[in-house]
Amino acid sequence: MQRVAIVDPTESSRESLRTLLLGVDFVWLEAECTRYEYFFDVIQQSMPDLAVVSLDADKARALQMIGELSVAHPKLPILTISQDHQALLQSLQRGAKYFLTHPVGLEDMLAALRRALGESGTAVNGDQPSLGMVNRQNGPSQIVAVLGSRGGVGTTTLAVNLAATLASDPGTGVALVDLDLALGDADIALEVNGMENISIADLARNIERLDMNFLKRALVKHTASGLAILRHPLEIQEIGVLHEGHIERILNLLRISYSVLVLDLSKAMLPTDMMALRMADVILLTAQLELSSLRNVVRMMHLLNQDDNLGDKVRVVVNRVGAEAVEEGISLKKAEDVIGKPIFWQVPNDAKAVIAARVAGQPLVRHNPRSRAQQAIVGLAQALGSKPTGVGTPEPKAKAGWSLFGRK
Ligand SMILES: Nc1ncnc2c1ncn2[C@@H]1O[C@H](COP(=O)(O)OP(=O)(O)O)[C@@H](O)[C@H]1O
Ligand SMILES: [Mg+2]
Repeated sequence: MQRVAIVDPTESSRESLRTLLLGVDFVWLEAECTRYEYFFDVIQQSMPDLAVVSLDADKARALQMIGELSVAHPKLPILTISQDHQALLQSLQRGAKYFLTHPVGLEDMLAALRRALGESGTAVNGDQPSLGMVNRQNGPSQIVAVLGSRGGVGTTTLAVNLAATLASDPGTGVALVDLDLALGDADIALEVNGMENISIADLARNIERLDMNFLKRALVKHTASGLAILRHPLEIQEIGVLHEGHIERILNLLRISYSVLVLDLSKAMLPTDMMALRMADVILLTAQLELSSLRNVVRMMHLLNQDDNLGDKVRVVVNRVGAEAVEEGISLKKAEDVIGKPIFWQVPNDAKAVIAARVAGQPLVRHNPRSRAQQAIVGLAQALGSKPTGVGTPEPKAKAGWSLFGRK
């Protein structure tokens, strides 16, 4: 947790600054000051990690105070806020290091806080894992989109269990976003309590005033796994509310706060899915060793290759390997020939463990961490950072952390 002190004699702007900062979990509002002339003492007493100075109530006085502060505390980063670019420039000359133009939006504030606190030598990540929000590593967050090649191939199973596996590392804040808007069921696979009944549709309806507080309330917490979940719209007729622009904004806001976003997509390749696929760093395309699934993989690859080379991000994951009832005598090698792409990972058929976990509303990492399916998912999480492998070589890499997610 990073401690911040603010000064702003104007009540209204001080309040909005406070609201903004209260929405940021890695920040603790240590001191709030209403007079420039008291701020020096406030800093001496509270020794915060960052000072935020709103200049506009009395620029001359604020600038003078910044000069004194930067001489007395050269290591303290100072962030200034003003409508007046000239004043911001002068604040930099007096020793401020960062500035924001008033009115300040949440995204700009978060970006500035990360820069300011990240560069001051203390880890932005904080020492207490907060409840999922803003518990991310330094560095960019990653978006993993999980896409299915037909209904029932295990897209949700994979998304939920991969997300929960990544979230089992306390340093990695993970959000699972159910973008299977019409028929999503991630919230069944992970039983969530105390739902506030806010879904992604409510976020879309209020997109103009979407801020971190609102977003936080919308995310339900799966306590056992530490995952934050953004649910599909409660009523199917609500899906018309959601456009691709909403998805873009919501994911951008989420990625400021989480290390990893795992997206459970629909199979309809809707504009909302396509936006998610464009924003993704990796696309896991879930398949099974049977004809309709494999044929759809080929068709989907064709579509994705036409759209800004999205196909390059695709990693094919074959699920339920070894299930005689599912497979049609197609070998992995044959599947690779058909797809024209190596199979990145295999998850064995493990009906007992997968179904029991689902009935319990728990991810495998909690319910049955030793199960074969979970072992494969752990391996997948580790392999995501490395190059695609061929059939027969899905050996998990050394247990050094999730390389895709910057922990190596
Ligand atoms: N590796 C697996 N072994 C056994 N059963 C599985 C496995 N993966 C998924 N399933 C089962 O397959 C069914 C469909 O999975 P689901 O994740 O809901 O697919 P999708 O989201 O693609 O429609 C579920 O009943 C699930 O329990
Ligand atoms: Mg599903």
